[in-house]
Amino acid sequence: MGTTIFAEMSAMAVATKSVNLGQGFPDTDGPASIARAAADAVLEGRGNQYPPGPGVPELRRAIAAHQQRFYGLDVNPDTEVLVTAGATEAIAAALLALTEPGDEVIAFEPYYDSYAACIALAGAVRVPVTLRPPGFRPDLDALRAAITPRTRLILLNTPHNPTGAVFSRAELTAIADLAVEHDLLVITDEVYEHMVFDGEHVPIVTLPGMAGRTVTISSAGKTFAFTGWKIGWVTGSAELVTAVRTVKQFLTFVSGGPFQYAVAEGLALPDSYYAQLNGDLRARRDLLCDGLAEAGFAVYRPAGTYFVTTDISALGETDGIAFCRSLPERAGVVAIPAAVFYDDAKAGESLVRFAFCKKPEVLEEALTRLRRGLA
Ligand SMILES: Cc1ncc(COP(=O)(O)O)c(C=O)c1O
Repeated sequence: MGTTIFAEMSAMAVATKSVNLGQGFPDTDGPASIARAAADAVLEGRGNQYPPGPGVPELRRAIAAHQQRFYGLDVNPDTEVLVTAGATEAIAAALLALTEPGDEVIAFEPYYDSYAACIALAGAVRVPVTLRPPGFRPDLDALRAAITPRTRLILLNTPHNPTGAVFSRAELTAIADLAVEHDLLVITDEVYEHMVFDGEHVPIVTLPGMAGRTVTISSAGKTFAFTGWKIGWVTGSAELVTAVRTVKQFLTFVSGGPFQYAVAEGLALPDSYYAQLNGDLRARRDLLCDGLAEAGFAVYRPAGTYFVTTDISALGETDGIAFCRSLPERAGVVAIPAAVFYDDAKAGESLVRFAFCKKPEVLEEALTRLRRGLA
């Protein structure tokens, strides 16, 4: 449903000349120096033929260096890193590699739409634990209650799309303790790791007992604003990474050779790059959140990601799907109903997600239209 609604909303955005705050991709490309590095790699013949299965050594070393620099983690670039076709392939390969048909996979809903699809592809059974407004905090009692003898793994996402929740160290420690107690694996999707505005990003793999049971996933798409390049990666123990690579080999084998060299340069950018990315997005978060509140939405200001979830009940509306279908005509703005990210659609019925990875003037225009259209 998620993918269908994205297609429907994007088509509507074009047809109605709406400002599209639906799908989460930046409207400005990442650093010119990194784009240049990709072009140079193509022209110099680096990566134009099949790169090595695990990824080019330059990128694997850069990923390991990034894990050391930001989280103090020792990662072996030769055995504990795998480059993938975006985080999306990493999620698919990890689920296919690490579950057997009938295994239960616990995931916090609302979830990124590939999770349900990939759990189904693996023949596994998804077991949702619901995040609820206003804080969208993980309910640890509900998590504990969801664990059964068939539970194989917990699929985590922090910072969390679509809610913008950033799981705290205490919450992650409690989740890690449960994983250790029940001998579960954790697949953790951390693609928004550099977009945390309040609090800190804690990779669960850094917590006690998690090193051998965690598959950590990230991606260049968000951090460097090149979502079309589809360069992602997996880090974890050699055993887990080998298992994921064995599946990845038959999904794509390899991808994006020249882009891999460019992303290696991106990961080595100075701290100032990461600080600016964060500062720019924080300002856009505040611009959009303040404006949406003024336009009458209840706003759940996100601690991370580039999405904000709102509640339209405050506008006298109840059905987010109907609201989002009417919004392009009413106001010339596209947003996504959060119900499509829930199994329990009722839980997300009145929630609507907006993306703020757009130029400030685009956000301003959207807000002007919303104020006018909803008045
Ligand atoms: C939580 C989450 N995981 C993964 C992805 C996909 O990442 P990639 O483009 O690297 O496949 C997205 C993109 O929106 C996302 O929001």
